Amino acid sequence: MAPGTSDTGAAGGQGAGAPSDSRTRHTRLIIETEEGTKTMKTIVSVKSLNKRYELGKDNYVDALRGATVNIGSGEMVAIMGPSGCGKSTMLHMMGCLDTPDSGEIWLNGRRVDDLSTRATTKLLREEIGFIFQGFNLVSTMTALDNVALAAQYAGKSRRESQTMAREALEAVGLAERAAHRPSELSGGQQQRVAIARALVNKPAVIMGDEPTGNLDTASSAEVIDMMREINLLTGTTFILVTHDPDVAAACDRVIHMRDGVVTDDTSRLVAAAARDAERDLERVA
Ligand SMILES: Nc1ncnc2c1ncn2[C@@H]1O[C@H](COP(=O)(O)OP(=O)(O)O)[C@@H](O)[C@H]1O
Ligand SMILES: [Mg+2]
Repeated sequence: MAPGTSDTGAAGGQGAGAPSDSRTRHTRLIIETEEGTKTMKTIVSVKSLNKRYELGKDNYVDALRGATVNIGSGEMVAIMGPSGCGKSTMLHMMGCLDTPDSGEIWLNGRRVDDLSTRATTKLLREEIGFIFQGFNLVSTMTALDNVALAAQYAGKSRRESQTMAREALEAVGLAERAAHRPSELSGGQQQRVAIARALVNKPAVIMGDEPTGNLDTASSAEVIDMMREINLLTGTTFILVTHDPDVAAACDRVIHMRDGVVTDDTSRLVAAAARDAERDLERVA
């Protein structure tokens, strides 16, 4: 059996008769790496996620078929797998952009798969940043205003937003380009602006869907290095759906998916839920 996938689910407390009746629960992850065993707080936990897209009468796609995965705080992970295997669907659900038919999603100790829209919006603004393949910058706005907009959406004043945006652009090495519009920047620089925008509200997690998919090799390297640097400096968790082996190589861990399930994981996750942690620790000791 692939280590750290379906067996971990059982260790994670989702076995028979263990429904989650509480809205908050802090859990730990124990991951075996080549350097030894790491224990970290679980930041994202996905359990038995199912999602069916109805295309018409008797015509549907099961995009997720019981996907289960746990991600530790401060990890940088890649999610890989063939086109159509459900990577984007799972990422969107982790980021509260879409809802599953069944299963659980926990973010930073809170159950989020069934939050009200308003609560979800607030959570998204505060705890998750997104990076997209196509950068999604507003073409008529400067780099600074693109980044500041995200802070304003999160409730900051215009002035405070500008200050925060300046800091975020500095963090991605683009302070001198603050007044440039996207068309005056290279692809790598545009994606770095998008990283600054994702970073501006100091989220716990940054999620990216093919963040290097539109970039040449040199620009990809620039963006990958920047993400890794931010990850190491700030402890921000990165979850990156990718086909790019260079992205995967920069990550702590690669999660593989196929046909709507998580099939393999480069680390060996040996235990998950804190509620069961003591028992699990004993069990694996
Ligand atoms: N909104 C949607 N409506 C219908 N089918 C969808 C929708 N989104 C995704 N799918 C289908 O679900 C499956 C998984 O899609 P996706 O998560 O985008 O895969 P990946 O990101 O791994 O390429 C695919 O078969 C895709 O066609
Ligand atoms: Mg996709």
